[in-house]
Amino acid sequence: MKFLVIGASGFIGRHTLHYIKSLGYEAVGTQAKAKNPDLVKFDLLEDRIEWQLDTAYLETDSQVFGIIFSAITPIDRCWRERELSYKVNVEKTCQLLDDFKNLGIKPIFISSEAVYDGTTGYYSEEHQPNPVNEYGKQKLAVERYIQQMSPETLILRLSKIVGDDPKESHLFSEWHQWMETNKPITCIAGQVFCPTFVEDIAKGILLSCQQGISGLYNMANPVFFPREELAKQFALALGQEAQIICKPQEAFNFADKRNENNYLDSTKFLKATGMQFTSMREVFTAFTHKLKEDSK
Ligand SMILES: NC(=O)c1ccc[n+]([C@@H]2O[C@H](COP(=O)([O-])OP(=O)(O)OC[C@H]3O[C@@H](n4cnc5c(N)ncnc54)[C@H](OP(=O)(O)O)[C@@H]3O)[C@@H](O)[C@H]2O)c1
Repeated sequence: MKFLVIGASGFIGRHTLHYIKSLGYEAVGTQAKAKNPDLVKFDLLEDRIEWQLDTAYLETDSQVFGIIFSAITPIDRCWRERELSYKVNVEKTCQLLDDFKNLGIKPIFISSEAVYDGTTGYYSEEHQPNPVNEYGKQKLAVERYIQQMSPETLILRLSKIVGDDPKESHLFSEWHQWMETNKPITCIAGQVFCPTFVEDIAKGILLSCQQGISGLYNMANPVFFPREELAKQFALALGQEAQIICKPQEAFNFADKRNENNYLDSTKFLKATGMQFTSMREVFTAFTHKLKEDSK
C-alpha cells in the first residue's frame, strides 16, 4: 500500500501522514496555503492532482490510497463564505474524486457527524442524515455524490477530534489556555459528544485499508460525554478546578447552528476492524506529561 494524504498540513492529516510513515509505508502529503517543505502544494481551487504529483509515484504495483482530509473546516466560515466553501468542500472535492478514479487511486473520504441533525444522538449509519448547518450539508453533498458514482468508496464519519499535545491547536489545548488565564470553560448546555483521539484516526484508517473495508462507517470513540463533564474530568486530570459555564447555544453568537447530540454509534466499524480506541483518561495523562516536559 502507498498513500496520498490530501490536507496533510491540517490537524488530522498531519498526524495521519506521520503515523503512516512511522510504520514504513510510502506516503506523500499535500498542503494548500501552508509552507511545509516536506509537503506537496495542492490547492483544490487552483490545481489538479495529476499536475502536482510526480507521476512516477503512481507507477506502482501497490494500491495507492488517497485520503481526503482537505476542507474548509470552521463551521461559521462555511456559512459566512458559502460560495467559496461549497466550491472547495463540494465541487472541487468531487472533481478530485473523479481524478483519483482516473488515476487508479482508491479514495477515502473523511466526513463528519455534522451530517446528522443532532436531535436524538447515538447515530448509526442507518439513521437518516439531516444536517443543520452549511458544513454538514457540504459533507453530505459529497457523500451523496460518492454513493451515486462509486458506492464502494470508503467514507468515514468522524466526531470531535482531540489531541494530547498542548502545543497543537485543539479542544484540550484551548481549554488549558483558558484555565491558565482564569477564563471559564464555556460549553453548550446539554451538548453530548464522543471525543476521539487524533492518532486513533490514523490507526483506524490504516486498519480500514489493511482489511479492505468499503462503504459508509462511523469512526468515533464509542464513549460519549456531556461536554461539561469532559471539561470537569480534564481539569481534574490536570489537578485543577475549572470554572465551567454552560449556556444555550443561542447565547454564543454562532453564525451557524451547532449539533447538540452528535455522538455516534461506531459498532459497524468496531466489528469490521477490531479497532480499540484510546480512552480520554489516557489522552489526559499524555497531555499532562507533555505539559510537564514542555515546562522543563
Ligand atoms: N477536527 C475535527 O474535529 C473533525 C471532526 C469531524 C470531521 N473532520 C474532518 O476531517 C478533515 C480534517 O480536519 P482537520 O481538523 O484536520 O482540518 P484542518 O486542520 O482545518 O485542516 C484542513 C486541511 O485542508 C487543507 N485545505 C483547505 N483548503 C484547501 C484547498 N482549497 N485545497 C486543498 N487543501 C485545502 C488545509 O491546507 P492548508 O492549511 O495548507 O491551507 C489543511 O491541510 C476535514 O475534512 C474535516 O471536515 C474533522
